[in-house]
Amino acid sequence: MSKAVKAQIIGWGAYVPRRVLTNADLAQMVDTSDEWIVERTGIRERRLAAPDETTASMATIAAERALASAGADPLAVDLVIVATATPDYLFPATACLVQRGIGAKSAAAFDLGAGCSGFIYALALGAHAIESGACRYVLVVGAETLSRITNWQDRGTCVLFGDGAGAVLLGQAHSPGGILATHLGADGAGADWLILPAGGSRKPASAQTVAENLHTIQMDGQKVFRFATKIIPDATRKVLEQAGLSVADVDMVIAHQANARILQAASERLGVPQEKMYANIDRYGNTSAASIPIALCEAADEGRLQAGQRVVLVGFGAGLTWGAVLVEWGEKIPPKRDLPWLLAALRRWWAWLLRRFRR
Ligand code: COA
Repeated sequence: MSKAVKAQIIGWGAYVPRRVLTNADLAQMVDTSDEWIVERTGIRERRLAAPDETTASMATIAAERALASAGADPLAVDLVIVATATPDYLFPATACLVQRGIGAKSAAAFDLGAGCSGFIYALALGAHAIESGACRYVLVVGAETLSRITNWQDRGTCVLFGDGAGAVLLGQAHSPGGILATHLGADGAGADWLILPAGGSRKPASAQTVAENLHTIQMDGQKVFRFATKIIPDATRKVLEQAGLSVADVDMVIAHQANARILQAASERLGVPQEKMYANIDRYGNTSAASIPIALCEAADEGRLQAGQRVVLVGFGAGLTWGAVLVEWGEKIPPKRDLPWLLAALRRWWAWLLRRFRR
């Protein structure tokens, strides 16, 4: 019997913009305070894209870093998926801009819209593309410029969000482990709870939609909060069940970073100690589809993910959508410093130079 191919995360990279917006800065803009924001959300600061940065430009840097960490040639990539709710354009897909930016000339590319669960959806699809044999290397990116769709006069939402990008490169697992199970779900009944009402075909942009602030995030915070605290434990348990495992077998849970109180409630309901719930919400706020890959990159770079450890990545968001992916972390295979590696490094350097030049 042939051995089933599994997908594995073989490279990762993240990018956050330099500009920091603190709670004290926000208190000068709307009627809020550092105390309120920290107590209700756990957020202390967030990053904002510079005027010349976009979802595609941040995604491209994160993708390049993921390729470099795997020592992979962009020409080997078969598919680029960018999960985002803030694409550069309605079309073409931001993934095509990333494909061009990194020089992944052999890759197909598309965007995926599943709100803050987008990265989990994209990771699950990328893994299935490798398991089926359709692809050998898939680049999965979560990237957002939420600052461009935030109503900076609405204290109920503007304190929550930030910008950034994270990416992973999926390849075939050569050591035990890999992506062990995936679970995705949706419930359109909650579609209105978190919505960008205008700019699509239902309410095309007009002077009136702009005047009514309909191009900014509208949210029923309490309904989303209740949904989140229930769905994180439910989705985590479902994905573990599929692999015949229980919560006790998990070394880390990396949940979508939306609110520290949501993470705390989920950890209590799941029975996972706080120290196993990765958190960086204090520094970045909610970066939607970028939050899980940014957190994953930080956890990996901090040496908190060792070969053989099991991590549940779990997200929820607009749609409503949710999803969980169970990963058994693999051995990091150091990149071969051979001729193809050198050529790939040169190509990345050249693309980077061109981007700097174009700015
Ligand atoms: N600063 C000060 N006061 C604020 C405030 C702010 N930034 N935002 C809201 N308030 C006020 C409200 O006006 C309200 O005042 P009132 O009692 O006088 O009417 C009070 O604080 C309580 O508001 P409420 O909305 O009940 O607060 P909350 O405890 O539910 O916290 C959220 C609000 C948004 C932080 C919380 O509901 C949340 O995190 N929800 C989930 C959002 C989310 O995760 N979205 C993304 C999903 S992917």
